[in-house]
Amino acid sequence: MRRIITRTLLAIIALIAIGLWVTRPQALAPGTLSGIEGDVARGEIIYAAMGCASCHMAPGSEDRLVLSGGKSFPSDFGTFYAPNISTDPDHGIGNWSDAEIASAVLKGTSPAGQHYYPAFPYASYGRAEVGDVVDLIAYLRTLPADQSPSRPHDVGFPFNIRASLGGWKLLFSGSDWVVTGTLTDDQIRGRMLVEGLGHCGECHTPRNALGGMDTAQWLAGAPIPGKDNERTPDIRAPSLDWSAPDIVAYLKTGLTPEFDSAGGEMVDVIANMKQLPDDDLNAIAAYLLIVGTDTP
Ligand code: HEC
Ligand code: HEC
Repeated sequence: MRRIITRTLLAIIALIAIGLWVTRPQALAPGTLSGIEGDVARGEIIYAAMGCASCHMAPGSEDRLVLSGGKSFPSDFGTFYAPNISTDPDHGIGNWSDAEIASAVLKGTSPAGQHYYPAFPYASYGRAEVGDVVDLIAYLRTLPADQSPSRPHDVGFPFNIRASLGGWKLLFSGSDWVVTGTLTDDQIRGRMLVEGLGHCGECHTPRNALGGMDTAQWLAGAPIPGKDNERTPDIRAPSLDWSAPDIVAYLKTGLTPEFDSAGGEMVDVIANMKQLPDDDLNAIAAYLLIVGTDTP
């Protein structure tokens, strides 16, 4: 009897070990960044498209360049706080290597080899091009240092065990596209901006019980965490029913075709979007106009 129990326990331990191995934190493959030179000017646009400031600037701050952290993110699993990612070597990421920053953004893996929580939208960022992230990093290195210490997250057991996030990552992050089919160049660029860099799905797509984006309901609107009975709007083409110029105007000015002003968190998204070149905004519109239709 005892032998059976011992064997069963060993089998369970082996299964857990295999599970942890399969879902272990992955860094970028060594050498991925070699030979790629970061372009600071392009990085400034990528920074706006990816919206790093929205989460990492101090709460209530207007300065989109000081990434001192502190903003809170309520979720079903606890409250997360954005860390300091300024160039400060002690409190920020000033002495991280490019590969370490790129692994955080693209793989959700820390320099110490731990999983990040998906409140950091790497499930979307993982679709970005490595070259764009290298440009972004070159730009981040030009931003001011700030000495605010990062605040620890307020998450209880078992979610405080970062190793448990490996399964989540396996299920819900990766570089696959949601909208596939025969797309125009504009739609393909728009898909990168919406599904990847702009991480629009993180707010506009409902989540399943495990907190992963329900891609069957892609951009169909979702409850807003921490706000009872409030939802982000459904922005699939048939529901939105706006023209391409309407969408571009909204992302540039925050005004809807009915001349209502954008509210809530979208105000801050627009502060980023209005910095993008017209080509990119047109591409976002071209993409949104096929979401929820049979076109592709
Ligand atoms: C939606 C909010 C959000 C956005 C947008 C966002 N982050 Fe974060 N970021 C977070 C949160 C929350 C964490 C903490 C994750 C954790 O501890 O597991 C984090 C963690 C990080 C870390 C790890 C810092 C550390 O001390 O370990 C880096 C680096 C980082 N973010 C960089 C960026 C960059 C660069 C961008 C833009 C490309 C960005 N983030 C956009 C919320 C965000
Ligand atoms: C941080 C969460 C968040 C992110 C990220 C986000 N949105 Fe929104 N969005 C909202 C909210 C909230 C509203 C509702 C604004 C209001 O109440 O006026 C909204 C409204 C909109 C609307 C107007 C819809 C309508 O019917 O009035 C459009 C279009 C839109 N978002 C597009 C986008 C695109 C494109 C992106 C990615 C580049 C994006 N959003 C990213 C939260 C977000």
